[in-house]
Amino acid sequence: MRPAELIEQKRNGEEHDPDELAGLILAYARDEVPDYQLAAWCMAVYFNGLTAAETHALTDAMIRSGETLDLGAALGRKVVDKHSTGGVGDKTSLAVGPIVAACGVPLGKMSGRGLGHTGGTLDKLESIPGFRVELTTEELVVQLREVGVAIVGQTADLVPADKKLYALRDVTATVDIVPLIASSIMSKKLAAGAEAIVLDVKVGDGAFMKTLDDARVLAEQMREIGVRAGREVTCLLTDMEQPLGRAVGNALEVEEARDTLRGDGPADFSELVLDACARLLAYSDLGIDVDEGRRRAVAAVEDGSAVESYDRWIRAQGGDPDPAALERAPVQLPVPAPRDGVVTRLGALAIGNAALDLGAGRRTKDDRIDHAVGVLCFAKRGDTVLAGDDLAEVHARDDHAAELAAAAVLAAYELGDEAPPERGIVLDVVA
Ligand code: URA
Repeated sequence: MRPAELIEQKRNGEEHDPDELAGLILAYARDEVPDYQLAAWCMAVYFNGLTAAETHALTDAMIRSGETLDLGAALGRKVVDKHSTGGVGDKTSLAVGPIVAACGVPLGKMSGRGLGHTGGTLDKLESIPGFRVELTTEELVVQLREVGVAIVGQTADLVPADKKLYALRDVTATVDIVPLIASSIMSKKLAAGAEAIVLDVKVGDGAFMKTLDDARVLAEQMREIGVRAGREVTCLLTDMEQPLGRAVGNALEVEEARDTLRGDGPADFSELVLDACARLLAYSDLGIDVDEGRRRAVAAVEDGSAVESYDRWIRAQGGDPDPAALERAPVQLPVPAPRDGVVTRLGALAIGNAALDLGAGRRTKDDRIDHAVGVLCFAKRGDTVLAGDDLAEVHARDDHAAELAAAAVLAAYELGDEAPPERGIVLDVVA
């Protein structure tokens, strides 16, 4: 296999032999192919795509580049997992894990860090004082057995080819390519050993996939990869035109997730959490359907077992679950409505970027995150406000940053006289 020939093949729109494609990826993972050749190949894929057979070969090669886990065998249980393609204010895993565990199903998850305007679950968890995201596989298994939930960073040994390739794609404008996203996400899910997976594919302004049609294509490709590997996969296509819930920013999102576990969360976020939990419970070895899964998830929130499960989990990973332990930003600046009206739009990307500028995210891999800062969006699409009502509140390190962010947040809102068409959080399901 000569990398230059494969680049030429893909540039000319031809199909690779699966073994040659696997050879390219495995050689890249072993540092035997330079970044510039893989970058050229990714760009050729951007323009000419991958066939289903090529996408499978790529996914298999990525999995073979490292170790795999078999949590099911270690726990003697059917293991379920969830994953989101990433959005603004997406703290779903922080609430789903404890609810599913409170219902008697272990949820062990490897999560990532945020880049750009989308946040990462690990960054959110690290806003909790003392929380450890690095557990050994043995610690992960013990915690899942004893506590039922664990969310950890991806180990270096799991799908190392993706780690390298993703970093390269990030700096070569080749992230938003459906087969590369599908194989990147699914290789990690399959290598981590889940037998059933609920994928949350975000759609809209703040997501990779801007339209429902594009999101459906990604969902179908991911599902096909999973089914081919003998796993059960459901994809929820969910709204990312506006931020999920109210909170955007690490510590603010952790607090909102815990509030939601006490039954005190925003409507859209609570609905998505319960839907995902219902489907995960139906996939589990409890032998129940989605309706019964939802009933049990609702009951766990109502009877307090969900929030107890959260507190137990956070303590098990060394953190302090008390929301009062989370750092608060020194400056909190309200963003008042300039007129009476109905919120017709709240741009997720603009809010994500405002939070990023405040320091809640990273522009490059090595940026440090300020866990305390972010934005609370009190008014969401369809809400009626009066002039002077707080649309949002900016949490900032200093006055200057707060004022810049407040202007950006205000610009993300559109106020009109007529309510926009209703749009639920779950837009479609691919199963
Ligand atoms: N998330 C991933 O893990 N990989 C991608 O390619 C995109 C989002």
